[in-house]
Amino acid sequence: MGSDYYERSSILAEYLFFHYGESSDYLPFAEGPQSALNFPLKIVERGLAGLSLPPASRAMDLGCAVGRSSFELTRYCQEVVGIDYSSAFIQAAQTIQKQKELTVCVVEEVGTTKKVSVTLPSAVFPERVQFFQGDALNLSLDYGEFDLVLAANLIDRLSDPTLFLKDIGRWIKKGGTLILTSPYTWIDSFTPEEKWLTQENSNFQTLQNILEPQYDFQRKEDLPMLIREHRRKYQWTVTELSVWVKK
Ligand SMILES: C[S@@+](CC[C@H](N)C(=O)[O-])C[C@H]1O[C@@H](n2cnc3c(N)ncnc32)[C@H](O)[C@@H]1O
Repeated sequence: MGSDYYERSSILAEYLFFHYGESSDYLPFAEGPQSALNFPLKIVERGLAGLSLPPASRAMDLGCAVGRSSFELTRYCQEVVGIDYSSAFIQAAQTIQKQKELTVCVVEEVGTTKKVSVTLPSAVFPERVQFFQGDALNLSLDYGEFDLVLAANLIDRLSDPTLFLKDIGRWIKKGGTLILTSPYTWIDSFTPEEKWLTQENSNFQTLQNILEPQYDFQRKEDLPMLIREHRRKYQWTVTELSVWVKK
């Protein structure tokens, strides 16, 4: 794994199916972790639960991958900027924005693939989203300030998560919200071990220590997700969702 991991065509197909696949196609079994389906939709719904956003609000989805959460944010926000480091992911997000539908080749059994059709959900406003290839650790000031920043499963893919957490407030308005999710799956090829948030405390305690000077902690919850590798193998992961309001 490393910086080109999210450029691979197999990972692109996996993420397109993960973000946009029909639940009955994605997990076609009567028994299974159904509650972990639709993660990119749930992070938006659960993250925003109980929050009231100002009219004409602006959101940024950092590490948006192929864009499902960015589109879901348009149900609450007038303008959404989706940013990801992977150009393959951003191109796919722009394609689905334009075409509303894509055919994807996913692994069926190891050694075989099948074609699935993935579609943009109908209740969203694709014209409100702009996608850019960019680096969460080196964001352009041109994006302006946001009422909401979502960083879903991003921090444990960054080379310096502490720097990101200290800096991201520059793009969030006073009273604006930061929503984080992470399974804290640190991997040396993405984040050198000395940068993992578990140097002295638990991941959440470290997050709190870094964020508390700039944010009021609102709440946290466990949110499961399911990534399909092939029809008989899935990764079931429990992320921690936390919500922070900028002082
Ligand atoms: C584990 S995936 C999560 C994707 C998506 N938020 C989701 O929950 O499905 C991590 C994403 O972060 C992106 N990423 C990694 N490093 C990044 C960086 N420095 N700036 C922006 N995006 C980055 C990857 O390309 C990938 O799309």
